[in-house]
Amino acid sequence: MDGINVIEVTEDISLSGHLCSQESLNIATNFQFQDSDILLVTFPKSGTIWTQYILNLIFNKEKFQNQNSIPTISLNPWLEHINFSESLAKGEVSRSHFITTHLPAKFLVSNLKNSKVRVVYVARNPKDVLVSYYHFHNFVKFLPDIGSFDNFFDQFLEGKVVYGSWFNHIKGWLGVQHELNFFVITYEELSQKPHQSIQSLANFLGKKLEPEDVETILHYCSFSFMSQNNPVKINPIFQPFFDHSKGQFFRKGIIENWKEYLSPEQNIRFNKVYQAEMGELTFKFPWSL
Ligand code: A3P
Repeated sequence: MDGINVIEVTEDISLSGHLCSQESLNIATNFQFQDSDILLVTFPKSGTIWTQYILNLIFNKEKFQNQNSIPTISLNPWLEHINFSESLAKGEVSRSHFITTHLPAKFLVSNLKNSKVRVVYVARNPKDVLVSYYHFHNFVKFLPDIGSFDNFFDQFLEGKVVYGSWFNHIKGWLGVQHELNFFVITYEELSQKPHQSIQSLANFLGKKLEPEDVETILHYCSFSFMSQNNPVKINPIFQPFFDHSKGQFFRKGIIENWKEYLSPEQNIRFNKVYQAEMGELTFKFPWSL
């Protein structure tokens, strides 16, 4: 992949050189988890920030309600990011905090096995991930120029995007789920069955929520609330990284937006690759292709 801001870390994944370095990746790979940690794992654009908000609300409703413009990067830091390793070096990372990662399983699994770390994997229809990722590239300044939608479509299917192949990511993590304390939640279920999804997530995390707690969480993590109180827009630390004239982080927040982007030919090609890559997987996803 071309682009000054991208580092090839293995033959099959590359990372944003603006956010990660070989050293920060090594620190992530050797990170000593503690059993109380909660690791949120997503492929980019699957609803990461949304789930970070939900996790913060499940555990710390009162506090987080008043702090909704705090960037989740400081509440749920990304394990592989340079700023996380710098905070670790300074002893600033609070061990009660949640950790987020987009890394494929192979980088972390040996340190997670035999631990009680609760791993929450968020999956989203890859066609919607693709569309969201395409728009994200257009407005963030630290990702390579990816050209047209058609060009990005090809790169996504070939796994030549930052963090590599969506298919390898999900297969890698689901492939080790039985060896970990693992829970899968999907963007689609969060959208369509929000009460049930949040209760199931809280159950997995060992937190009891009353129905009114769920309502509060749903209010503060709704697309409208989050987009209006959006730290990406409000907080000055983010301003150098985004060009808000070209797009926004809280873009659509819907399912099946891909139908407006993929041509019939692209859709057929995508489905063929999906079938070839995912056909063996027994896990049933709630999206239609
Ligand atoms: P779209 O670009 O399709 O709108 P991530 O946090 O992993 O980068 O994912 C970003 C995607 O999640 C974006 O998708 C964003 O709009 C969507 N999103 C963020 N908060 C959301 C919410 N509260 N409800 C629904 N979608 C949300």
